[in-house]
Amino acid sequence: MNAQALIDTARTLVAGDKGLLAMDESNPTCNKRFAKLGIPQTEETRRAYRELIVTTPGLGECISGAILYDETIRQQKKDGTPFVKAITDAGIIPGIKVDTGAKDMAGHPGEKITEGLDGLRDRLKEYFQMGARFAKWRAVITIADGIPSRGCIEANAHALARYASLCQEAGLVPVVEPEVLMDGDHTLERCRAATEEVLRTVFNQLNSQRVLLEGMILKPNMVLPGLTCPKQAVVDEVADATVRCLLRAVPAAVPGIAFLSGGQSAELASARLNTMNLRFNSRLPWALAFSFARAIQQPALETWQGKEANVPAAQRALLHRARCNRAARRGEYTAAMERT
Ligand code: 13P
Repeated sequence: MNAQALIDTARTLVAGDKGLLAMDESNPTCNKRFAKLGIPQTEETRRAYRELIVTTPGLGECISGAILYDETIRQQKKDGTPFVKAITDAGIIPGIKVDTGAKDMAGHPGEKITEGLDGLRDRLKEYFQMGARFAKWRAVITIADGIPSRGCIEANAHALARYASLCQEAGLVPVVEPEVLMDGDHTLERCRAATEEVLRTVFNQLNSQRVLLEGMILKPNMVLPGLTCPKQAVVDEVADATVRCLLRAVPAAVPGIAFLSGGQSAELASARLNTMNLRFNSRLPWALAFSFARAIQQPALETWQGKEANVPAAQRALLHRARCNRAARRGEYTAAMERT
């Protein structure tokens, strides 16, 4: 393991005011998002959509790393340029999603365990050769009556740590993503307690598996009330609860925390990240960045609608969200940015 290379990559991913773009939707997830908008669900439409993203002029000003899916990392632009080259030429580090999805967990009704460890060492080797320098694995934790269970939290944390250790062996920075879902009517406090327990367990496991904390990125959820909780929280409450939770559970050796958006609106995701940076930035040991999929892509996807003629407008929408989130890293995002 080349520790210095891992540390350098991890630092670059969260340096300055840039963040990550997750464009690693699996084929079924990508197809589901296309279907909602009446876009045909084919390999070619998925390729065309990803070409739109990676050729967005100026994207590299805001985005340090792009997370790809197995199909995408093997694809090319229409002119034959591999996506990995297009991304690298734009000054963006290519990354790769390597889990094989969250499956129903045996003996744990309503809970999921993420799979993908079998054969992972060989797959990581191949992705490194293809140019990837970081990877992502997402665990999913659900809050509902009587869950999350210890069994589910421990199994997912263990898998995340096994994955992270294998990544570092292969020279890839692991993005460690334990996502506590927003679905449900739970309170902000319940999300905070669950998130804190999950993160503590994840870092215990990362230590057991000898993961170099300086050479990884944490990708957590923000601490939020459930989507159907009658008492929603204002932006300041979310920022407070999230930062307090992270300060308790995330070691200072981790260089950066890059949030997932998890189904928040694009504007709220930017506003909440902005408030955290505005109010706490100088007091935090790690960078607070973003690794959004929907909160960067959704407006662009809705503008594109699968039509070639809409590509420039969709690219403008994508760049706009990327710029809003770059501003949020500096604590300079304002609602007025949405009107320009
Ligand atoms: P969202 O930002 O849409 O939650 O996606 C982030 C991600 O990469 C999920 O694994």
